[in-house]
Amino acid sequence: MFEDRDFVCKHMLIRKRDLVKTIHEKGLKTMDDVQDETNIATICGSCYADVEEILEEELKKV
Ligand code: FES
Repeated sequence: MFEDRDFVCKHMLIRKRDLVKTIHEKGLKTMDDVQDETNIATICGSCYADVEEILEEELKKV
């Protein structure tokens, strides 16, 4: 479980709170949307599943 301040993606240096903000501000719906916008999970990919989980959680809130 990530805290808001934790880095979800250590390669792109994206914290959970910033990922969540971007998802809602830009209306991102899919992992492709998120990656196009942020380049998250495009280096080693080890954070992909975590990002996907956060995206799914956030989509339940809209
Ligand atoms: S930790 Fe996200 S691409 Fe490596």
